[in-house]
Amino acid sequence: MGSDAIEGLLDESRTFPPPVEFKKGSLQTSAEIYDEAEADFEGFWAREAAELDWYQEWDTILDWQPPYAKWFVGGKLNVSHNCLDRHVEAGHGDQVAYHWEGEPGDTRTITYAQLLDDVQRTANALKELGVGRGDRVAVYLGMVPELPTIMLACARIGAIHSVVFGGFSAAALRDRINDSECKLLVTADGAWRRGSVFSLKDNADEALADTPSIEHVLVVKRTENDVEMTDGRDLWWHDVVPGQDADCPPEHMDSEDLLYLLYTSGTTGKPKGIMHTTGGYLTQVAFTHKYVFDLKPDSDVFWCAADIGWVTGHSYIVYGPLANRATSVMYEGTPNHPAEDRFWAIVAKYGVTQLYTAPTAIRAFMKWGDEHPAKHDLSSLRLLGTVGEPINPEAWMWYREVIGGDRCPVVDTWWQTETGGMMIAPLPGATTTKPGSATFPLPGISATIYDDRGNEVGVPGGGYLVLDRPWPSMLRGIWGDEQRFKDTYWSRYGEGIYFAGDGAKRDADGYFWLLGRVDDVMNVSGHRISTTEVESALVSHPAVAEAAVVGRADAQTGQAIAAFVTTRGGVEENEDLAKELRDHVAKMISPIAKPASLLFTGDLPKTRSGKIMRRLLKDIAEDKQLGDTTTLADASVVDSIKNRYLDSPHDG
Ligand code: PRX
Repeated sequence: MGSDAIEGLLDESRTFPPPVEFKKGSLQTSAEIYDEAEADFEGFWAREAAELDWYQEWDTILDWQPPYAKWFVGGKLNVSHNCLDRHVEAGHGDQVAYHWEGEPGDTRTITYAQLLDDVQRTANALKELGVGRGDRVAVYLGMVPELPTIMLACARIGAIHSVVFGGFSAAALRDRINDSECKLLVTADGAWRRGSVFSLKDNADEALADTPSIEHVLVVKRTENDVEMTDGRDLWWHDVVPGQDADCPPEHMDSEDLLYLLYTSGTTGKPKGIMHTTGGYLTQVAFTHKYVFDLKPDSDVFWCAADIGWVTGHSYIVYGPLANRATSVMYEGTPNHPAEDRFWAIVAKYGVTQLYTAPTAIRAFMKWGDEHPAKHDLSSLRLLGTVGEPINPEAWMWYREVIGGDRCPVVDTWWQTETGGMMIAPLPGATTTKPGSATFPLPGISATIYDDRGNEVGVPGGGYLVLDRPWPSMLRGIWGDEQRFKDTYWSRYGEGIYFAGDGAKRDADGYFWLLGRVDDVMNVSGHRISTTEVESALVSHPAVAEAAVVGRADAQTGQAIAAFVTTRGGVEENEDLAKELRDHVAKMISPIAKPASLLFTGDLPKTRSGKIMRRLLKDIAEDKQLGDTTTLADASVVDSIKNRYLDSPHDG
């Protein structure tokens, strides 16, 4: 589970009630909301859904035919209307939607009225390019304002966006485009990354060599690097969008119409296109954004420091905040450019009130030193959040004390691409927190823990986290692969029980402690990467005969990727080749998937039926006492790998 390091440090008796000052003005100070929601969870979610604007009310709150859920059946709404028009119509057009900060220091201030204008023009541009209801649009951009704009423009006309993280490779982009047969690709000349330009368009061109469904490419100018524009296919955003009519009435979408696809790693090499729909998704992201962050739209400046290329950005930079009329900060770059105090400079500059980031980032800040936050006035902060991986109690305490000055509640939020919105997290004005625990399922949500055989584990106790009741923002499927949807999430424990793939335990007070993945999915710096995907990338190299990949515990990044490689006959194994192979993975998938260490081995530990025993490799990589080796076909293999691993150079 990669969690032993954390487990050793858990102190279940350490508690932090909501800070007194915070609680005074908090939206939700009573725990009664849990009971109210529990008494009638459908009614609870229906009340939250009614906070949105609907063209037509639903006739059924929930239609649950496991594993298929439909929420607010028969209801009609439009997400972009809910995120923009209704706020402007209510007189908030001049309110800032995004304080956008470019990595080089340039800024843009985008009001709700401006964003609505931009979105309508962009939506008309989409129509002109032949994109309509149900069509898929791939988006491969850095963190520029055009990214939320294109997402909302798609939502406005009923097109389905598929945002591909700008750090992904050409091959990864190509596979995602082809899987859902996108008609249009929206990209940019480049993106700023730690002071240099990363050419998105070059990567896109490489992908486009083999994407027959793409008709046009819309290119945002950001970094001014030279790019090749293919006649008839490629168009500059600035030539097409600004001249469009600024009026584009929103489509009336069915509550269950697809809003977007977002690809995520699973236990096989092929990424899964997670499907999210309209009414239920918006209801849950708006509810969780409002109550877990205690959002006050008239005075707060909310900052989710994730990338929109991941689900965190979809739900808590774009849809949740805009539905709640939040003023957000959106930052383009890395936390250490030009220096390690960039985040704190941004907090002070905009008067950020809530900050939401990943434990990996928090651990990096700790390592860089307290002097960086100390240089800036962080007194505007009133709440801190984390997401993406288990947070170790030290990092939690540091975040609370050094960044939050001991006055800000820390909300550790557990959820997944598949859940669409937060599932297990505190209500900051009502819930007493414990460092390292995500506390309890949110009102309206039900989660529990099962053992191997499908028995519910009592309190206290540990096992596998399951969600035993449908929730509004749940995934509705995997694009084009119904069987995989059933097999991955709904087959292990049967009808209606969602298997999350995470280990978890409840302490004697019933608090949930998340303990990391239990499948072949690694979590590196909060990014999900499948071992099989990295293995496939390695064996696609002509020098490689066989590869096995494991995630080993790493103090900084949560897990680090350790690769074990058997080469083909006649290949010389040396450091240059090891570097080439690690770079090859970065090129095939993304730099985030590059193995931290790579060891050549003559053989890999296998069972008699030929299955690679990754568990043993993990023990080797973590320098642990080896687990059970009785099923090994050849026990000497492990000793020889172990000796070579200990002798080999590897970071961490
Ligand atoms: O293992 C859990 C971990 O991240 C996984 C989901 O990854 P992804 O779909 O990329 O979404 C990340 C952002 C929501 C989960 O299965 N994870 C996420 N949040 C937490 C977490 N592990 C522990 N504590 C968390 N707060």
